[in-house]
Amino acid sequence: MATPNLKYTVPGMSDEDAARVVELVQGRLYACNDLHLTLKHVHWNVVGPHFIAVHEMIDPQVETVRGFADDLAERIATLGGSPKGTPGSLVENRTWDEYSIGRATTQEHLGALDLVYQGVISSYRDGMKELDDLDLVTQDMFIAQINELELFHWFVRAHLEDKSGGLSTAGATSEAQAAAAAG
Ligand SMILES: [Fe+2]
Repeated sequence: MATPNLKYTVPGMSDEDAARVVELVQGRLYACNDLHLTLKHVHWNVVGPHFIAVHEMIDPQVETVRGFADDLAERIATLGGSPKGTPGSLVENRTWDEYSIGRATTQEHLGALDLVYQGVISSYRDGMKELDDLDLVTQDMFIAQINELELFHWFVRAHLEDKSGGLSTAGATSEAQAAAAAG
């Protein structure tokens, strides 16, 4: 990702700090745009006896994550940057692979989504820690969004959990592996 060239930023922040904050927020904007599209893909492709529960569970997550993308993009503009929201820019700059599961059972998709949420939330948390020294206002936005994402992650994981609290996807390192373990 190219370092953003800012002509102005919010009062009291150095241009150097603002450039790094914009980079961190842009990374989460890519993640949220990817996530809400991927969630819709899952909403359309789940099959099996628990179809309607999972199909309907996902739509509120899509709406919330779309709202996050809007807030992140407007934060970038507020900081004097230019948010990148085109599909080409997302595909060119994302650091993860395309979601790999097509039509599959609800359990398989939820297993894969466990991995997706692990990736998204981990990168948010890295950003949250770095923002400690850069910008508490943006950090506050990250914290609020992480709170919701972790809740959604639990909705997903509750389908993968057994009575002892173990996850069927434990130890999986790819979506395909997690889907197979959950399915
Ligand atoms: Fe729908």
